[in-house]
Amino acid sequence: MLTSNELRRSFLDFFAARGHAVIPSAPLVPEHDPTVLFTTAGMHPLVPYLLGEPHPKGRRLTDVQLCLRTDDIDEVGDATHNTLFEMLGFWSLGDYGKQDSLRWTLAWFTDVLGLAQDRMAVTVFAGDADASPDDEAVRTWRDLGMPDARIHRLPKADNWWGPAGQTGPCGPDSEIFYDTLRQPCGPACRPGCGCGKWVEIGNNVFMEYHKTADGAFKQLAQRNIDVGLGLERLLMVLNDASDVYHTDLFTPIVACINVVATGSEGSDVNDQRLRRILADHVRAAVFVIADGVQPGNTEQGYICRRLIRRAVRSGHALGITGTMLRVVGQVVITTYREVYPQLGAHEDTILATLAREEDRFRQTLVRGLREFDRQVGELVDRGETVLPGTLIFRLFDTYGFPPSLTAELARERGLGADMAAYAARFAQHQAQSRQANAAKFAGGLADHSAATTRLHTATHLLHQALRDVLGDHVHQMGSNITPERLRFDFAHPSQPTPAEIAQVEAIVNQQIGRDLPVTMTLLPLNDALAQGALAFFGERYPDTVKVYRIGDYSLEVCGGPHVRATHELGGFQIIKVATIGQGVQRIRAVLA
Ligand code: SER
Repeated sequence: MLTSNELRRSFLDFFAARGHAVIPSAPLVPEHDPTVLFTTAGMHPLVPYLLGEPHPKGRRLTDVQLCLRTDDIDEVGDATHNTLFEMLGFWSLGDYGKQDSLRWTLAWFTDVLGLAQDRMAVTVFAGDADASPDDEAVRTWRDLGMPDARIHRLPKADNWWGPAGQTGPCGPDSEIFYDTLRQPCGPACRPGCGCGKWVEIGNNVFMEYHKTADGAFKQLAQRNIDVGLGLERLLMVLNDASDVYHTDLFTPIVACINVVATGSEGSDVNDQRLRRILADHVRAAVFVIADGVQPGNTEQGYICRRLIRRAVRSGHALGITGTMLRVVGQVVITTYREVYPQLGAHEDTILATLAREEDRFRQTLVRGLREFDRQVGELVDRGETVLPGTLIFRLFDTYGFPPSLTAELARERGLGADMAAYAARFAQHQAQSRQANAAKFAGGLADHSAATTRLHTATHLLHQALRDVLGDHVHQMGSNITPERLRFDFAHPSQPTPAEIAQVEAIVNQQIGRDLPVTMTLLPLNDALAQGALAFFGERYPDTVKVYRIGDYSLEVCGGPHVRATHELGGFQIIKVATIGQGVQRIRAVLA
């Protein structure tokens, strides 16, 4: 059995021996980038150096970086997806090229770790209008003994990485997959397929481009290499484990959960999923709290609260009746404290925070679930299949159930959830409380009704979706919002086709469905623009501007106000499209 400590050490030693300076893991909450909630990749803290600023440790770097991604939170519970993970990374800042990076990655895998090359397959960038096919990567893989049948050329959607935000360094990549030897899911099964046969064990990114605010890909003067390997998955593959939870990173945590739950490992698939969610989320929450985050309703605090409440609910569904997060959290700290001393340093705070948030939610969880079950019983008796918005709202307002949790509970019972009606009810509630508090909102907020606020956030999603579908030349020419509808004018040569409009609508609804947090930061105007924030150039901006970020999807200079998370929006529908002048199109849209 290879341990996680041995694996981290082996990696750092191998790349240190090849001239890489070992640098420490940056904090999980980025220090110098207020526009992102968490560090999502090893390259994230290195962006300035990838863009050309000299790094004090030189041109070859390596580290093990803690990362947190919530995009795939619904996948957690399968064999390989985690919210928090450790990324083994190494970089060439304009030093060596892709031949060395691929050769060294493969040499570490095969010569040092003993992975079988004949169980590997790789993908490379097929080329498009922005960049040519990556023939050099293909040649290099051939030279390294990879047969053509296991070199897959794929488009940008598969083989282009970055930028991490809207703009920044990015480039074609080459991913390495390992065959678990499971049966393929069908004839189309190939590396990148999510069925579980192929596990991604490494990604070599050839960061030679800079995506600019206008959507162009400019070649960087400095040609970089950015390689990231997921520690959890690699450990799983190396130990022939069925999933990441059967590696030493998780076994003590899962063992603790098994004791607290029933005294033995669960066999039922759903039961196993709940145990994994509990393990994953408590582990992530421990690290997030260690970085100074407290559960709350905005930004990092909202993610922290969501992780904890989902963990509590999973434990409850497993039949755990007593409090549990403190004891599971304690095992997480013990498992990781040697490698991550911040856990030991903040042990008391971490455990007290977990216990407090669990207590708070538990007080209402049981009553809320009872209410949920009663209502679902009546609903099913009436032959209905969709949870009404009023119930979703009541569970949120009275029992603190995040709406995404209620939707999940409904799904488990084979029911839908009327999120649009929930959003409408929520907006009505907001309007009422705003009215009641009108005096307090001297800053003008009371002038903005909940309905216009929701439409305002929808406008930002629409703006980005139009750029995604029609191109980055799309920019705002005007906007007018009433409580009933939004109206958005933008530059585009011809009237969008019905298919394009359907696509834009689908994208906006998809982003709403992801329940993205909406956050605001104050930034110097130039910094905001440099980060790729969209701006309406018909307007004169002060030196310092408010920048609104909607998850990882939209970034825009704007005065606000906006909703707190996109679940408040409900269903988005475009009701009219018209050409109102040469090269100027107008869209009217509503929220259901
Ligand atoms: N940035 C790339 C990734 O996150 C490789 O490090 O996969």
